Amino acid sequence: MDSEEMTRPDYLPLLNTIAIHERNAGVSLRAWADETPNRELRACLSLVAARETSHYEVFKRRIEELGYALEEEEEPGDEERLRVRGSGMSDAEKVRWLRSRQPVIMVDYRAAVSDEGIDSLTRSLLGWFADEEADSSKRLAEAYGRVEAQAR
Ligand SMILES: [Fe+2]
Repeated sequence: MDSEEMTRPDYLPLLNTIAIHERNAGVSLRAWADETPNRELRACLSLVAARETSHYEVFKRRIEELGYALEEEEEPGDEERLRVRGSGMSDAEKVRWLRSRQPVIMVDYRAAVSDEGIDSLTRSLLGWFADEEADSSKRLAEAYGRVEAQAR
């Protein structure tokens, strides 16, 4: 084992996966925001898309601060999500499609918030990220619920 391997933080893959997922989610939610005629939904999608993009930037920067670089990774289902969200399908159909999918299971970043093996600055970012993700999920769930109610 060389010194690089010995010092490489074992949580880098976690940060990398978060950055890639957030980047992809930002792009596909933005595509939906640009497509919807529903102003209220657009406002919610735009807000969450901006947060996702900002999470991507912050985690990519943190990886670089630690002395590494973001590595491309394939995210299962990402292309399909982008294709559906950016398509001309109605909002109600998109919500139905999303509900028919398994939720995207991301790595367990909540456990990482209290993992003392992770440097404290990165843990602060993870805590902020987890709080925003929880708030974004709540906002999206409410917005999707209104789309479904209007479609009935
Ligand atoms: Fe997210």
